[in-house]
Amino acid sequence: MGVDIGGSGIKGAPVDVETGRLTADRVRIPTPEGAAPLPVAEVVAEVVGSFDTEGTVGCTFPAVIVDGVARTAANVDSAWIGTDAHSLFGHTTHRDVVVINDADAAGLAEMRFGAGKDHEGVVVMLTLGTGIGSALFLDGKLVPNTEFGHLEIRGKSAEHRASDRAREERGLGWQEWAERLDEVLGRLEALLSPDLFILGGGVSKKSDRFIPLLSTRARVVPAALLNDAGIVGAALAVHETRAHVATRPST
Ligand code: BGC
Repeated sequence: MGVDIGGSGIKGAPVDVETGRLTADRVRIPTPEGAAPLPVAEVVAEVVGSFDTEGTVGCTFPAVIVDGVARTAANVDSAWIGTDAHSLFGHTTHRDVVVINDADAAGLAEMRFGAGKDHEGVVVMLTLGTGIGSALFLDGKLVPNTEFGHLEIRGKSAEHRASDRAREERGLGWQEWAERLDEVLGRLEALLSPDLFILGGGVSKKSDRFIPLLSTRARVVPAALLNDAGIVGAALAVHETRAHVATRPST
C-alpha cells in the first residue's frame, strides 16, 4: 500500500501496482499541527491500520530522503532533519516501510501510468503546491532527490516565487504567476534540455489557464493522476527500492 504525507493531510490506500488503481477508498487524516516526527508517524500508523493489508508500505515525505533518513525540512518541522523516517514509521506501523520524496513518488506514478507513460529521454516533473517538488527521469528511470524547487531565481528560492502557495498568498494573476513559473522552467531548460515537463499539484487541474502562457521549447503537459499520484507512487517505490537494494553491492 501507499501513504502520502502532505502539509494538510496524510492519505493512504492499497494500490494495484500493475494498473495504478487504488483497490479501496483512500483514508485521509489531517496532518497533526506542527507536523513533528512522532505525531506524524502515529497518524501514518493509523492510516496503515485502517486497511487489512500485509507487506511493505511505501510512504512519501516532503524532504530529501537518503537511505530512509530525512535530510532537509523546507516546509516541515526542522526536527525532521536527520530523523530516520524509515525506522520511525516502521516502529509505529509494525511494518517494513520504504520512504521516498513526495515529488519523486508522484513522478514515478506519472511516468508509469500518467502523463509520462512510455516517455523516453529526459523528463522533469514539478509539483506545484506549498513548495515546488521535482522529479527527474532519464528513459523512465528516476534520479532521486533533485530539489529543483530550491534553485535560486532573482535571489530567492524558486518555490518562494512560483509555488501555488506563492500565487495564492500574493494574489498573483495567471499571467503574472505564469511568468514566474516560466522563469523556473527556462532555467531548468538551460541546465537540462528536457524533452518534456510534467506539471502536477492541485493547480494542474487549471492548466488551461497557465500552460498556454509558457514559452519553453520543451512540451509542457499537466499531470494526469492528480490526487492519487503520491499514494500510487509510494506503492511503486516499494518495488523500485527493493530492486535497488537487491542490486546494491555488499560492502
Ligand atoms: C521540499 C521538497 C518537496 C517539495 C514538495 C520542497 O520544499 O524541499 O523535498 O518535494 O517541497 O513538497
